[in-house]
Amino acid sequence: MKRIKFLIPIVIVAIVIMAAFLVVLRGRNPGVVQPIPFDHNLHVEGQELECTLCHPQVGTHERAALPANEICEECHSEELTGSKLENQLRGYFTDKNEIRWEKIYRVPDHVYFSHRRHVVSGKIGCESCHGDVKELKVPPRYPLIPPTMAQCMNCHKKHNITNDCLACHR
Ligand code: HEC
Ligand code: HEC
Ligand code: HEC
Ligand code: HEC
Ligand code: HEC
Repeated sequence: MKRIKFLIPIVIVAIVIMAAFLVVLRGRNPGVVQPIPFDHNLHVEGQELECTLCHPQVGTHERAALPANEICEECHSEELTGSKLENQLRGYFTDKNEIRWEKIYRVPDHVYFSHRRHVVSGKIGCESCHGDVKELKVPPRYPLIPPTMAQCMNCHKKHNITNDCLACHR
């Protein structure tokens, strides 16, 4: 018994050190690196493209979805700039290799979220939840606005929308 008592402070110290280590590691998390440094600003402001050209499901589905190669190919099947980046992009087409964009905004499976509901009937603009995407010259590594429960609930409160647990957790 005595020996166990002696061990308790050591175990506590070990846990504290491990926790501190995890915090440091998280702080160093480099975030998501996309396969190609896609430039929203160049396409949205420069080419005046609509968000729905590349995220066609936002008004019709729960998920907005990231663009398939064929959307980029519509313009880039011919050389537009000849830059190193564009050549890298066109390499995916010749290899028939689907670009694997990584999702950075995500809610857990136990949360129900629908883009159609918010964008169409709620008339909420993309920037309310995603920040000023049209100004992004390089892909964000983290969500500009983290999709937390507090974020959902604050806006629902403001708009007088239900904050019943079961509305979001089904
Ligand atoms: C020409 C195609 C194109 C257009 C137009 C476009 N996007 Fe994107 N979008 C992408 C690609 C490719 C990615 C993945 C790479 C990245 O994050 O930049 C992406 C990623 C995103 C993401 C991050 C999603 C996630 O979880 O990773 C958001 C949010 C987004 N776009 C919003 C918008 C908004 C808002 C507009 C209009 C203002 C827009 N996009 C216009 C191609 C496009
Ligand atoms: C509606 C036409 C159109 C679509 C669709 C489109 N682009 Fe582009 N993209 C352009 C044009 C035009 C340029 C050249 C703009 C300039 O040089 O000012 C360009 C430039 C680029 C460049 C080169 C940037 C540089 O620094 O040279 C990359 C990479 C690129 N686009 C990636 C993509 C990806 C990835 C997609 C699909 C998610 C996509 N584009 C969809 C029209 C398009
Ligand atoms: C009310 C908040 C809200 C609005 C408004 C909103 N989004 Fe989202 N968006 C989210 C959340 C939350 C996620 C993560 C969803 C998930 O994991 O199912 C997300 C994910 C995404 C993704 C990642 C791909 C995917 O399929 O999940 C893209 C791209 C995106 N949104 C684009 C848009 C565009 C474009 C608009 C405007 C037309 C928009 N969003 C409006 C909250 C919003
Ligand atoms: C910027 C404001 C805003 C944010 C952020 C937001 N919502 Fe909403 N939400 C709305 C509005 C407005 C409506 C009502 C849409 C309508 O008129 O149909 C709504 C409706 C809903 C509904 C349907 C409620 C019902 O009546 O059954 C659900 C579920 C929902 N939101 C989930 C979420 C989740 C999950 C998040 C966070 C990931 C979120 N919302 C973030 C504004 C927001
Ligand atoms: C408007 C949408 C919304 C409502 C209403 C809502 N939640 Fe959530 N909840 C979320 C989202 C989004 C997440 C995931 C993001 C996060 O953890 O912040 C979440 C996460 C959680 C988690 C997991 C936390 C974790 O750390 O993994 C629990 C537990 C939870 N909610 C309980 C509740 C309870 C209880 C209520 C009712 C009092 C409620 N939620 C109401 C959107 C909602």
